[in-house]
Amino acid sequence: MIHIENLSKTYRKGNIEALTNINLDIREGEFTALLGQNGAGKSTLINILAGNVKKNTGRVVIGGFDLDRHELDTKKVIGIVPQEIAIDYLFTVDEVLRRQSGYFGFLHNGPYIDELLDALTLSDKRHARVSDLSGGMKRRLMIAKALIHRPKILVLDEPTAGVDVEMRRSMYEYIERLNRNGTTIILTTHYLEEAEKLCGRIIVINDGRIIADESKKSMMEKQGRHVIVEVHVSRDLSPADVTGLAEFEPRIAERTILYLKVEKTRLMEVVQKLTNLQLDIVNLVIEKPKLEDIYLDLINR
Ligand SMILES: Nc1ncnc2c1ncn2[C@@H]1O[C@H](COP(=O)(O)OP(=O)(O)O)[C@@H](O)[C@H]1O
Ligand SMILES: [Mg+2]
Repeated sequence: MIHIENLSKTYRKGNIEALTNINLDIREGEFTALLGQNGAGKSTLINILAGNVKKNTGRVVIGGFDLDRHELDTKKVIGIVPQEIAIDYLFTVDEVLRRQSGYFGFLHNGPYIDELLDALTLSDKRHARVSDLSGGMKRRLMIAKALIHRPKILVLDEPTAGVDVEMRRSMYEYIERLNRNGTTIILTTHYLEEAEKLCGRIIVINDGRIIADESKKSMMEKQGRHVIVEVHVSRDLSPADVTGLAEFEPRIAERTILYLKVEKTRLMEVVQKLTNLQLDIVNLVIEKPKLEDIYLDLINR
């Protein structure tokens, strides 16, 4: 559905190389997470797909249409929810969606607009002005807008930023339903538990380069020999406390929690080491690695 070849982008302003030689194939029906720290280049990639940012080099084909030669055709197969909320504040929700329908030449899109508003819990805001919507509502309206022409591909750039937990869940239920019905989905999010739950494929971008690209299943399985040991101690930890544990890739969080990545066969050895360190352990949790652990591993490597 999306083919990207040797794609690079340098912003003239600041001479920032945002993407370096990206190669990527997204197949029909996939649900892909695009992960990476702030500034990694995720939005740049998405904005190039949307035609809002011009690439320097490389080839991009969307739904069979080459972006350089058939940009208008690419817009018919892809729906993009950009990270920045950009909707005309003076219109009502209904007007925004009707105008967007008109833009694509759909004159009788009423029943589908009803369906979208219902699925995105916006029905009772139908006649409200955009300027009167909350951040989360605006974001849901952006999703409805991106879906107005029933695109085969939906790309969401941090769609849950500013959306409360309850709404997030119903939003994702709808996106999952779209995917089950065949829509190809690409999602960037900072909530790794969401990516872990929803996505079948994980792509990690770091500093403008793809550093990991594989199925979630194989990514998680590779880590199968390890567990994450979570050590809660009664005082603040410093890096000096854990120098003797370097081979277990120690990570300190919230000052008093220590995470270690341990091969299952070496668990007792680690417990012994922790005992020797006299850390005054108040809680010890052993867990299977989560996507978040694997992700942190990747970007810190
Ligand atoms: N319009 C722009 N002009 C100049 N630099 C930009 C622009 N947009 C993004 N950048 C830079 O490009 C890099 C990638 O940014 P971005 O694609 O927004 O990353 P992400 O979405 O992963 O946080 C960053 O260094 C960012 O500062
Ligand atoms: Mg971004």
